[in-house]
Amino acid sequence: MKNFTEQELVLSSQAVLAHSYSPYSKFKVGAALETARFIYVGTNIENRSFGLTVCAERVAVFSAVANRDRKFRRMALSSATKDFITPCGACLQVLSEFCEDLPILLVNCDGKIKKTTLKKLYPSPFVLKK
Ligand code: THU
Repeated sequence: MKNFTEQELVLSSQAVLAHSYSPYSKFKVGAALETARFIYVGTNIENRSFGLTVCAERVAVFSAVANRDRKFRRMALSSATKDFITPCGACLQVLSEFCEDLPILLVNCDGKIKKTTLKKLYPSPFVLKK
């Protein structure tokens, strides 16, 4: 178990902005997902076949899951814009697969932080009931 600081999480999401592969939208997004063991980063990865683009949040989630590290604690999401961005619907659904709720720190280009949660952004996720 390791406790990361809010600053470490925020800095990780800002640092990975530089790795964004976004030649089409030119819109950089950085995500940092804290678990009990690690901070997994993700950035948006676009493709010339536009529909294959993957958001920063999902890259971070899939990296954590690929490492069998599924106890999510917090996520920081950085943009290179003044406006705060929120995770898209697809990413919220993916996050909801692994946690009921999650504190999410939205970070703008000035390093300002707005705090929200998965539950607030996505109160009624799809649940598979047979
Ligand atoms: N994008 C993300 O990475 N996360 C979001 O929550 C919304 C959008 C990316 C996808 C695409 O590369 C670019 O931002 C513009 O839509």
